[in-house]
Amino acid sequence: MENLYKNHFHLEPPRGLLNDPNGLSFFQGNYYVFHQWNRFDLNHNYKEWGLFISKDLVHWEHQGSTLVPDRDKDLSGVYSGSALVVDDELCLFYTGNSKIDGKRRSLQCLATSNDGQTFQKLKEAVKTPSLYTEHHRDPKVWRDKDGYQMLVGAQTKEGVGAIASYQSSDCRDWQHQGLFFSSDDLNQMAECPDYFELDGESVLLVCPQKRDLIRDEDISSYSAYYIGSVKDKVFHPQTDIQSMDAGFDFYAPQTFLDPKGRRMMWAWMSRMSSQEEASCPTRAFGYLHCMTMPRELRMIEGKLYQLPLEEVLQKRKVLARCKDKNHILQEVGAPSVLDIAWTEVPSTFEIPLFHRNVSLVYEGKHLVLSRKSWVDQKIDTKSIRIEEIRGMQIFIDHSAMEIFINQGERVLSLRYFLHQENRTCQFHSSHQMELTYSKIES
Ligand code: FRU
Repeated sequence: MENLYKNHFHLEPPRGLLNDPNGLSFFQGNYYVFHQWNRFDLNHNYKEWGLFISKDLVHWEHQGSTLVPDRDKDLSGVYSGSALVVDDELCLFYTGNSKIDGKRRSLQCLATSNDGQTFQKLKEAVKTPSLYTEHHRDPKVWRDKDGYQMLVGAQTKEGVGAIASYQSSDCRDWQHQGLFFSSDDLNQMAECPDYFELDGESVLLVCPQKRDLIRDEDISSYSAYYIGSVKDKVFHPQTDIQSMDAGFDFYAPQTFLDPKGRRMMWAWMSRMSSQEEASCPTRAFGYLHCMTMPRELRMIEGKLYQLPLEEVLQKRKVLARCKDKNHILQEVGAPSVLDIAWTEVPSTFEIPLFHRNVSLVYEGKHLVLSRKSWVDQKIDTKSIRIEEIRGMQIFIDHSAMEIFINQGERVLSLRYFLHQENRTCQFHSSHQMELTYSKIES
């Protein structure tokens, strides 16, 4: 059976279930994207780190397993974390998770490598301080003028989401600095924190998670950010909490600074419900989920922008162009990009893609994204307010789509699954559009 859903520029595991990106780094001439992986099954019962590497961010190779649960302290999973290159050594910081007789234990651990292929696990770096519960995970490490810094997603003993901060002078011994940030915004747990400075602003990424505190169960979660400032090791937000992505499938983003000085981000391109996961068509081919394409983060006029990767844009080859208020493209293939630009800001538009399997409607300053569910064929929607839309880029892969509004001011990510015959896309707008349809060359 031919796999119509196999993506071209969204990383997918060769088999099993993929979730969070981990350990993003550039080491000895290669980009490293590690990832949470259950290589044995299509469920979340087992977690290790798998690895993709690339020389150019376009061609990727899967390297198989790197960090696997093989000792008492990570018996229930090698959970998410980050990487840092220190003195020609690739250091991986991860959470060793163990659950024995229902009792959870989390340790922030370190593994190092000289060749990027074999990793040696060292003594744990951080035990959970008494301020927090054992929901303490996803270490993000970086270096600044004061030494090595680590943030860990946490839950206070009162059951509030928090981010703990640690510091080290040698990347081995770590001291707890206190609470980097805590707020009711973070619900009951803060997963996958990330922090960076971008064009003079300080940005905190975090995934607030709602938990049932009695049953200690996950209820829901999403990916968000604040812009703010840091004083005496404490983050002070200057904006309200904002969602990172306005689509259906985006979670656990992680960033790193690439050799060109770009703040690059990948995220897990899934927020599938358990029913969506259970009936996801890629199961028939032995795998589940993919990553977003790499995005470059920029701060533009005090707003966090997410840009499609330049290296992918360079692979565009124009197939059709038009200037009109109404247009139909009969056979929109993948991988491709639809670039839409308006010289006069439209008051309304409607863009049904693939016979309305996915559609975008703009009216009354609201953009509504609809998607036909692959579980029950019902239409699900997401809506955001956008004052004006001047341009849009729709990246179409075989079962993943990323929609960039106004050069990355907002992005909407989604998985979609359709049959080959439904490939007509329509474009109707109150004002003339300049539409360019390009394929992305292999
Ligand atoms: C986020 C997350 C992390 C954890 C990992 C386990 O999706 O729950 O907090 O480390 O996934 O796979």
